[in-house]
Formats: sequence, structure tokens, C-alpha cells
Amino acid sequence: MHTEITSERDQSRLKMKPTSKVCRRIHEHYLIDKEKLLTLVNRRPSFLIYSLCFTILLSFYVLCASNSLRFAFNSTHGHHFDQRNSLVQPGNDDEKCDLFTGRWIRDVRGPLYTNFSCKTLPYQRNCLLHGRTDKDFLHWRWKPDQCELPVFNLRSFLNIVQGKTMAFIGDSLARNQMESLLCLLSAEETPNQVYRDAEDRTATCHFPRHNFTIIVLWTQFLVSASEIIVNGSATGGFHLHLDKIDESWVQKLSAIDYAIISDGQWFFRPNYLYEGGRFVGCIYCQETNVTDLGPGFAIQKAFRLALKHINDCNNCPRIVTILRTFSPSQFENGGWNTGGTCTRTSPLAPEEIKDGGGLDWYYRRIQLAEIDSARKLGEKKGNAFDILDVTRAMLMRPDGHPGLHWGNQWMKGYSDCIHWCLPGPIDTWNDFLLQVLRRQSRNPLGSRTHGSRFIGRR
Ligand SMILES: *[C@@H]1O[C@H](CO)[C@@H](O)[C@H](O)[C@H]1NC(C)=O
Ligand SMILES: *[C@@H]1O[C@H](CO)[C@@H](O)[C@H](O)[C@H]1NC(C)=O
Ligand SMILES: *[C@@H]1O[C@H](CO)[C@@H](O)[C@H](O)[C@H]1NC(C)=O
Ligand SMILES: *[C@@H]1O[C@H](CO)[C@@H](O)[C@H](O)[C@H]1NC(C)=O
Ligand SMILES: *[C@@H]1O[C@H](CO)[C@@H](O)[C@H](O)[C@H]1NC(C)=O
Repeated sequence: MHTEITSERDQSRLKMKPTSKVCRRIHEHYLIDKEKLLTLVNRRPSFLIYSLCFTILLSFYVLCASNSLRFAFNSTHGHHFDQRNSLVQPGNDDEKCDLFTGRWIRDVRGPLYTNFSCKTLPYQRNCLLHGRTDKDFLHWRWKPDQCELPVFNLRSFLNIVQGKTMAFIGDSLARNQMESLLCLLSAEETPNQVYRDAEDRTATCHFPRHNFTIIVLWTQFLVSASEIIVNGSATGGFHLHLDKIDESWVQKLSAIDYAIISDGQWFFRPNYLYEGGRFVGCIYCQETNVTDLGPGFAIQKAFRLALKHINDCNNCPRIVTILRTFSPSQFENGGWNTGGTCTRTSPLAPEEIKDGGGLDWYYRRIQLAEIDSARKLGEKKGNAFDILDVTRAMLMRPDGHPGLHWGNQWMKGYSDCIHWCLPGPIDTWNDFLLQVLRRQSRNPLGSRTHGSRFIGRR
């Protein structure tokens, strides 16, 4: 156990200067999306040569990953932002409202925190620090078609989670949401970091006044995976055992009240798939004698297995499982390594979503189908499942990514169109989260009325 106390001045120094401590060498290879891989594999004379280039590029693209979390500040400027919360009353009791179908509308108020008030805001998500000059993207709020989404109310959030443990289970986008939540809560209380693993991928922080614990559990695939090594160098692809759970996160389940489970982007790599120890096919491997089963196949199996483990967990009586649906990456005019960018400065209207969301929407549907079946199996046991169905809202926010403004030293010129700026539209995920927690806390375990649980369009 170790608590790191950093003075405010040290913090800003660290933020300004990505030293090797902040910017450690990371194994978290940068998330790769399907476009990138397709560009990569379509032009091969030899896939292996590409996978080598790919690895070299990756190891640069990776650099700080998402990992410069520093905790432990006694924030004093928070109350200015706090007051604003009272402008919009919670109490959106319309249980029938589909929060996740709507549009972005202008909002003069802007975000609840700034890169000054949030002391834990990570370097790579601090887009304004890295030269993003347009600020219009901060002045939109999500308007569900049938009701209002209340602005994040940190008192009401902390009341619900007091004495509880919440885990963000997934990749660097899970981390991105957790970092947004820390910023939203920073107006009230700044946490102590009580644990961080050597790579800063799994971390725990604690809000002493509310005895609230947040854990971020790193798992790119939810299932057991090992990186494919060719001639001593990592290829960026993985061997995935679709029927073997990644024990590292499952071990922690019994201590968790709220599990926010996500993942997706890492499945778009050239991965090899196994079931029962048998090789069954690949994703994007481009080998003539190997069946390409596609990312959807593996995403489905991984979520099914993960949710089954939660359902079968005998010593997790209090867990509420919330699946955060697929978050689209939004490169335009190229893939991540072929000059793709995301330079838009305002949201899309619902009508402007291309192909009804295309594959992003397809992966979301797979995830929803899995949590739906898990709920049906789990309801007898009183297990609770819910969703943060962010896909549609985020399909309209190609303006919310760091783009070129992520402080990258080694990969100048490469855009990040996968993660989300802080502050930014990802803060809305936590507005959704609060409403889901409210809904769940009104239906305490034992008296659940399943069936109408997921309020959202399929
Ligand atoms: C934060 O506040 C606590 C008590 O209010 C104090 O013990 C601690 O030293 C403070 N930490 C910093 C970094 O100022
Ligand atoms: C915060 O954002 C402003 C732009 O709004 C930028 O000038 C400043 O450098 C940033 N400060 C920190 C500490 O990130
Ligand atoms: C804090 O919460 C944990 C459960 O998460 C509980 O076991 C513990 O007793 C609580 N501590 C205090 C001081 O209330
Ligand atoms: C691996 O190393 C062997 C021996 O050095 C070489 O023949 C082979 O081409 C290498 N394979 C790749 C994919 O680089
Ligand atoms: C596919 O073919 C290649 C080359 O012919 C061979 O090295 C590889 O083992 C084969 N893979 C499978 C799964 O049969």
C-alpha cells in the first residue's frame, strides 16, 4: 500500500514536463481500429513485414498511454463549479425515458470542471493544454428525445456510492471515463491513490470523506490473452482464449458493488482465436488457410464469458453490472497511420450519422444482446445488469477527440481519434452513469423488476 502525495506545484510541473516518470515506457499498445488494420493488411506483399512496421509504429504511438494519474490534492477551488450543479435539479424520475436516444444541443454553461480545477486531469487528455484552440465542442449537452438528462450532481452521486466500490473494467477508454469521473468529483473531494501497479494500468483510489473507492482494472479483451511474439519482437496481435477468462479482473469481483464493463478496440488487431485450447480462426490475419472470424465473433464470446463469470460468482451478492457500449473511433481521410485525422469542431446531428452507425452499431448490438441474455439468466439469482449505451451519442461527437492535441512527443503528426478530451463529451457518460445508479438504487436487490430494465432502443 502506498499513498502518493504530490504538491500542487509539483503536479503542474509534472504535467508540463512529461518526464520518463510520467511518460513511462508502456506496453499498452495504442488502440488500433479496424480501418487502421484494413489499411495495413490490404497492402501487403507480406503481412509479417507489415506487422513488424506496425509494431515499430505502435511502440512509438504508445508512449504515455493513459497513465499519468496522480492523486492526492486538497482541492479548494471546487465549490465554484459545485454551485452550478444546483441549477439543474435531478429528479428525472421518468423511468420510461430512453436516455440514450437524442441529440446534442447547444449549452452556454460549458463543463463542470476545467484543466485548472481538476488536479488529476491526465496529460494526454488535456487537449487545451496541447494547443486545441476551438472551444465550441465544450458547449453542448445531450438532450434525450423524451426527457432531460440532468447535469451531473456530485452530491447525489456521492450519496449513492458512499461506502461502495466502483470498478471500471476494460482498456484505456474505461480509464478515460474513470478520469472524467474523478474530475467531476474533484469539486467535492480529491481522492488518495491507495494502489497502483508497476505499469499504472490497475489502480485504486479512495475518497476518505465518503469512503468511496474507485478501481480501474486493466483488461483489453476480458478473456485471457497473450501477445504474439515473432522472432523476439511483439507483433501487436494477440492469442485470445475465448473460453478462458482473464483472471486478473475476475479475482477482484467480490469486493465490487458497481462493475462498469467495456472493451472493443483491441479486437481489431490481427488476433488468433482459441477455444478449448484449439485454434479456431483469426481476426484480420490475412492467411489463406485460416478463417477470419471477424472482431464481432470474438467480442461476442468475450462478453458472454465475462458476464457468465459475474452471474456465476457466488461471493458477489451486491454487484451491479453496467455494460458501457462500444465507443467509436473516428478517423477521417485515412487510418491512424495514413494521415487520418479528426478535426471537426462541432457535433453531428442524428441524421448525419453515416450508415446508421455501420459496424460500430453492429458491435453495440452484439454487446446489448449479451447483456440481455446475462440478465435473463441472472434475474433468478437477483443479479442486476444495466447499460451505459453511449454509442449513439458518441457517433455524433467526432469533434470530441484529442486529434493532434494529445501532447505526443514521439508521434507528432499522428492523431488520436479514439480517446476523448477532458473536459469533453465523455463527461456525459458519467451523467448517464448517475441516472443508472439512481435507477438501480430505487430498485434494491431482491425487489428488482427485470424485463423493463434496459430502457433504450435496440
Ligand atoms: C490534505 O488535507 C489533510 C487534512 O485536511 C491533511 O492532513 C493533508 O496533509 C493535506 N494534504 C495536502 C497534500 O495538502
Ligand atoms: C488549461 O487550458 C488553457 C486553455 O484554455 C491553457 O492555456 C492552459 O495551458 C491549460 N493549463 C493547464 C494547467 O493544463
Ligand atoms: C468503508 O466501506 C467499506 C466497504 O466498501 C467498509 O467495509 C468499511 O467498514 C467502511 N469504512 C468506514 C470507516 O465506514
Ligand atoms: C525470423 O528469424 C529467422 C532466422 O533469423 C528468419 O529466417 C525469419 O525470416 C524471421 N522471420 C521473420 C518474420 O522476420
Ligand atoms: C497456414 O499455412 C502456413 C504456410 O503454409 C503454415 O505455416 C501455417 O501453420 C498454416 N496454419 C494453419 C492453421 O494450418
